[in-house]
Amino acid sequence: MKSFDGKVAVITGGASGLGKEFAIKAGKLGMRVLIADVQDDALEATRAELAGAGVDVRAFKCDVRKSEQVQALADLAMREFGAVHLMFNNAGVGSGGLIWENSDADWEWVLGVNLWGVIHGVRIFTRLMLEQARKDAAFEGHIVNTASMAGLLNAPAMGVYNVSKHAVVSLSETLYQDLKLVGAPIGASVLCPYFVPTGISQSHRNRPEDVKMTGAATPSQVAAQMLTVKAVESGKVTAHDVADITFDAIAKGQFYIYSHPAALGNVAERMQEIVNAANPGDPYRSTPHVGAALRSMMVSLRFGDWEKMRADAAPIRTEVFVEEQQVPAELEMDAMDAQCLHAVAYDALGNPIATGRLLPDGHIGRMAVRKRVRGTGVGAKVLNGLMQQAKKRGDQRVVLSSQTHAKDFYLKHGFTVVGAEFMEAGIPHVEMERLL
Ligand SMILES: NC(=O)c1ccc[n+]([C@@H]2O[C@H](COP(=O)([O-])OP(=O)(O)OC[C@H]3O[C@@H](n4cnc5c(N)ncnc54)[C@H](O)[C@@H]3O)[C@@H](O)[C@H]2O)c1
Repeated sequence: MKSFDGKVAVITGGASGLGKEFAIKAGKLGMRVLIADVQDDALEATRAELAGAGVDVRAFKCDVRKSEQVQALADLAMREFGAVHLMFNNAGVGSGGLIWENSDADWEWVLGVNLWGVIHGVRIFTRLMLEQARKDAAFEGHIVNTASMAGLLNAPAMGVYNVSKHAVVSLSETLYQDLKLVGAPIGASVLCPYFVPTGISQSHRNRPEDVKMTGAATPSQVAAQMLTVKAVESGKVTAHDVADITFDAIAKGQFYIYSHPAALGNVAERMQEIVNAANPGDPYRSTPHVGAALRSMMVSLRFGDWEKMRADAAPIRTEVFVEEQQVPAELEMDAMDAQCLHAVAYDALGNPIATGRLLPDGHIGRMAVRKRVRGTGVGAKVLNGLMQQAKKRGDQRVVLSSQTHAKDFYLKHGFTVVGAEFMEAGIPHVEMERLL
């Protein structure tokens, strides 16, 4: 689908997050927009915002789990606008925890919205578009289904969501093939976002009565919910960015749409395991501290140790940024008025929890890790970040001025002790060296 101006977009889950940004983007491109959602107040607020921006917009309360309500949405689109060119089957909800602990109601709710919502949308709107194409040889349509990276991976403690999103990937890929088979002038894409700050971690706000929670949340469900909140809230790619990426992909006729292409390494590893008939690998191989924290949180929760659980959760999704910085000699004696590299690790809420600095001569100076996250691997991440950076700038070795109490830790991370006799004698600041 190459042009958008004057055409019609229908968006489920259009009151919030990604759906709302699709609506704003569609409006900016001159499209007429129909948003559908279960949440009344958010739906009206988004409709008013779009209308205020001059968009020709309608809003419709619709529970996508229900076939007749999705049909009513399509009827309204035809009544109001006389056509539908672009359909976003985007409404979605999440639910976590160990897969055998989810209730019937959890399955019914999540599959109802995430899978049946897309099934109804595809069945009803593809037929509608084909009908339009029969009447108008110039007709061009496109359908975008929102799945997730959870549709390509299987992270633990989010099984119901994984199942729903894998099914959406399968449904979408088949839709793409079927449309090609009959030569329909309708494109199809599947959007697989990673963590993007939206309302998704609070999706229980719209959980309907007929599938309400049947008992208290289990420890694994509480832990999964905490992790999801942190991961979603600390996402750096915005819903606005995802809308831009998605519309670019639609214009190019691109099927797979990713918000975080860097995360595809995990998908490649999974695919290789499948091809090799290898057992599923460690989902936390690149972030072992997340796996350790999840396990520890579940244990802490069982014993009602909330303080420990919060501490376990803190270093999750730590990010290390290495920045070049000029440090004036008068402020830092050992900086030699030269360019230093600084690494800062942040926790999921953006609080700095560890720092390190690499001097131009390969000396790592002033590593510091906050007390509450010591022993969780954050310091090693900072060190590794700095060492990789050293390698990039062509350093041959890294030297660390070490304190005796951290000897074991540094040895474990590949450093050799220089002047072991000082170390044995308990004299601090013995140098350690690592050849890259
Ligand atoms: N945000 C992320 O990190 C992320 C990652 C991967 C996939 N996704 C997917 O993106 C899609 C959009 O979610 P979001 O992140 O914008 O979250 P969001 O909660 O901000 O928006 C989802 C919208 O869907 C609506 N909705 C819920 N149940 C509905 C129903 N039965 N019928 C109609 N509407 C309903 C909600 O009211 C809400 O307005 C979902 O399919 C979600 O699974 C999001």
